[in-house]
Amino acid sequence: MARHIIQQANEAPDGRRTAPAALRNAAPLIEALRHRLPAEGRVLEVASGTGQHATAFAEAFPALDWVPSDVDPGQRESIAAWRRESGLQNFAEPLALDIAAPWPVTNGFAQAVLTVNLLHLVPDTFVSRLFENARETLSDNGRVIVYGPFLRGFDYASEGDRSFDVSLRARDPAIGYKSVEAVSELAVEAGFTPVANDSMPANNLLLSFAIP
Ligand SMILES: C[S@@+](CC[C@H](N)C(=O)[O-])C[C@H]1O[C@@H](n2cnc3c(N)ncnc32)[C@H](O)[C@@H]1O
Repeated sequence: MARHIIQQANEAPDGRRTAPAALRNAAPLIEALRHRLPAEGRVLEVASGTGQHATAFAEAFPALDWVPSDVDPGQRESIAAWRRESGLQNFAEPLALDIAAPWPVTNGFAQAVLTVNLLHLVPDTFVSRLFENARETLSDNGRVIVYGPFLRGFDYASEGDRSFDVSLRARDPAIGYKSVEAVSELAVEAGFTPVANDSMPANNLLLSFAIP
């Protein structure tokens, strides 16, 4: 079953949604991803949301083919609207993809799988499925990259993180912040090796895992 929380967003007449968080973190993400994405190949972005990131990333990385996706049909319409408006040739139509279900792609489809601000919104079992599905989707030497807020052990990075996590768990006790250690363990169980842990603005982290 897909459970999803849609971010706050405004919608333009042509269907493009705009979320403030995606506007804020696109530039620092691009700088960090320059060191973590492959030089060329295909990136499957999971839970692309409005499509603002996919647009910015496809523009910033012209040698990569960017394939966005989301479980939510309304988000996919917004991604498609951003794609049309961008005119970018390396920006594919969004896929209907639920991290917890089988993915609509062939084995070896992508060289990287990226997800931004998703893991704290889903249960632990979904995170396991993300890594298992990513392992099947990636080619040799592929990598999976996850960005968002995380616990460090049992500790919050800030009081703001603590209150956000409490509010998420009040909404659904199965979701909430995961620790770096727990996420890394699930990645290792699925066959990945941790390769980098980049500090990002607002106490967020960009965690990268590779197929050994
Ligand atoms: C907070 S938004 C983040 C969107 C985008 N990555 C960003 O940072 O702007 C979370 C997104 O995850 C999607 N989502 C939630 N559960 C999902 C699932 N099980 N599989 C795929 N996407 C999911 C939602 O539809 C939503 O677009």
